Amino acid sequence: MANPEISASDKAAAGADAQLELHTLFHSKNGALIRVRPIRESDAKREQDFIKALSPHTRYRRFMNMCSELSNDQLDRFTHIDYDRNMAFIALIEENGVDKEIGACRYAAVADDATRSSCEFAIVIADAWQDQGLGYHLMQQLIQAARSHGFKTMTGEFLAENIPMLNFVASLGFQLSTHPDDPCLREGTLTL
Ligand SMILES: CC(C)(COP(=O)(O)OP(=O)(O)OC[C@H]1O[C@@H](n2cnc3c(N)ncnc32)[C@H](O)[C@@H]1OP(=O)(O)O)[C@@H](O)C(=O)NCCC(=O)NCCS
Repeated sequence: MANPEISASDKAAAGADAQLELHTLFHSKNGALIRVRPIRESDAKREQDFIKALSPHTRYRRFMNMCSELSNDQLDRFTHIDYDRNMAFIALIEENGVDKEIGACRYAAVADDATRSSCEFAIVIADAWQDQGLGYHLMQQLIQAARSHGFKTMTGEFLAENIPMLNFVASLGFQLSTHPDDPCLREGTLTL
């Protein structure tokens, strides 16, 4: 029987993803099998559940505010990607027969960049799945996607106190500097 949750656009996206080899499998350090694929419209509830389940500390590091869930506008933006100027991958594990989201990363073209050469990224991994190599795997996939769409640089903004993230992006090759408008922030730039 057809699954009513899967829209025609999701089906088309799934077919295109597979052709473009945008689905990957990854084994975490603790041996779990994790699937990574582009986000879909039908992931809205899954994405919201993922964000709500993060610890306040992790959510604060990701969004730099005290939000406890995504707004409708954020959820809409996060689940509608064009595979070019906006891209997002989610990481899934199967739990009791259901795909549960445990990580997400995304980039978006910098809005005021007429040459569309730069994109901004963000990433967050569920607390229980941090330090399993998943963030590194997701970033490899995101960087490759940005590169293949012609972006020349990838940038990010992080809290200066977020030392694990600063170390993480530095190990990925990002150059770090103090944000020109806010000493509490660091900017990272990767040449693609
Ligand atoms: C920061 C964060 C994304 C890292 O993700 P993670 O899945 O926990 O990290 P990983 O396990 O993949 O990465 C760290 C490991 O990858 C390794 N790594 C990084 N670059 C590597 C490279 N080029 N080659 C090999 N290994 C590399 C690191 O050295 C580290 O290894 P270690 O465990 O030996 O120290 C995650 O902790 C998180 O979600 N933090 C909260 C959200 C946040 O701060 N977001 C930032 C704002 S966008």
